Amino acid sequence: MVPGLGVVGTIIPGLGVGGTIVLGRALVWAGLWYMCGEVVTGEQVYRTAVRDLVMKMYGCLVLLLVAVVSCSDLDIDPKGYILYCPCMGRFGNQAEHFLGALAFAKSLNRTLVLPPWVEYHWPKPRSVQVPFDKYFKVDTLLAYHRVMTMEKFMSELAPEIWPPGERTVICYGVRSGGQSGSCNAKDGNPFGPFWDTFDIEFDNSEFYSPLHYEWSSQKDRQDWINRFPPDKYRVLAFTGAPAAFPAAQKNIPLHRYLHWSKEITDAVDKVIEEKIGVRPFVGIHLRLGSDFERACEHLESSPMMFAAAQCVGSRGQYGKTTPDMCYPPDDLIVREVKATVDELDAKAVYIATDSRTVIQELSEAMSQVKFVVGDPDRPHVDLGVLGQADHYIGNCISTFSAFVKRERDSVGKLSSFWAFKPKEGHIEL
Ligand SMILES: *[C@@H]1O[C@H](CO)[C@@H](O)[C@H](O)[C@H]1NC(C)=O
Repeated sequence: MVPGLGVVGTIIPGLGVGGTIVLGRALVWAGLWYMCGEVVTGEQVYRTAVRDLVMKMYGCLVLLLVAVVSCSDLDIDPKGYILYCPCMGRFGNQAEHFLGALAFAKSLNRTLVLPPWVEYHWPKPRSVQVPFDKYFKVDTLLAYHRVMTMEKFMSELAPEIWPPGERTVICYGVRSGGQSGSCNAKDGNPFGPFWDTFDIEFDNSEFYSPLHYEWSSQKDRQDWINRFPPDKYRVLAFTGAPAAFPAAQKNIPLHRYLHWSKEITDAVDKVIEEKIGVRPFVGIHLRLGSDFERACEHLESSPMMFAAAQCVGSRGQYGKTTPDMCYPPDDLIVREVKATVDELDAKAVYIATDSRTVIQELSEAMSQVKFVVGDPDRPHVDLGVLGQADHYIGNCISTFSAFVKRERDSVGKLSSFWAFKPKEGHIEL
């Protein structure tokens, strides 16, 4: 017999079985309380006292739980923390730096505080900081190393372990700016706006020269620990990422711990289902803005520019950087897309671009193919869609392209690049 049903006797129409049971149980307990209170004490005043006691015990328990939970939240890492401003470049560059900073934090065994992403929303004069976890999951990173968002660090830990008045910033050597002998960590954009996001003022600068952060020996690591022992330097706040640019080859596999947030994944799925709607589809990244065109003019003097190493290798061992790889002409784009579409029998092409789409030339050459252009205001969704394409063509030199390549490599998906055929023997592409 279900308790409660007996009291009410029957199922009350409109409430259903579940509703009747709940109502029945409530009546039983209310009745029990009313009667037992009277029977046990015989007096109204004792019943009130018993109820008060029960309420107090209940309140105690709740407070105790809250205390335990908030204490465990406030666990302080005895190995210390690393903070930094991703102050160089846009998303693609910041993502390269991130991999290095993650590896650096792991090798010093300090918790990495995940900085917000720095964005430039024209015509706003100051950079805009977007919380790390708007774009990426935090828990997948925890599989590699201890991390926490900067929002959480600043609200929960900073008041205790990094209070105003004790905030030191660290840089390689003196940086020019308003004060002499200082890192001038807040001079300029995005430096100032970044730290202002959390109302951070620095009280002091320290310099880590001649130490560096891409090391190969245990001695390099020990030098850092000797220079900045965690008990004296609980927090190391860097003016810029403690990482090489572009990302060191050895850190590229760390990309597999970087997973898009649910918000981005949902938006990506929506584009693939509703806008593209067919498979197979080819994803392409066009980097054709005038800024890049100008940058490409310097390719001859700096062949390892930006992400070039992803194609030619860090020592140029897989080929040579050419102007077409950096700024592919429209006819080359059409030719290479068509070759890939034919090979895959692709039904659609997704175009992520920073400026022109080349869609007219592409449609003329492939009238049966559906062309979908990404939303220029949502570059992260573009990246996510390119990551899911059946084949991807990117730009060797672009760090935005490199992000997609790393993500695809981490799950074994194929990618290629404009105007680049790797030297034989290099099958990793
Ligand atoms: C790293 O730090 C954690 C937390 O402080 C500690 O439990 C762990 O033993 C350390 N690992 C190494 C290799 O020192």
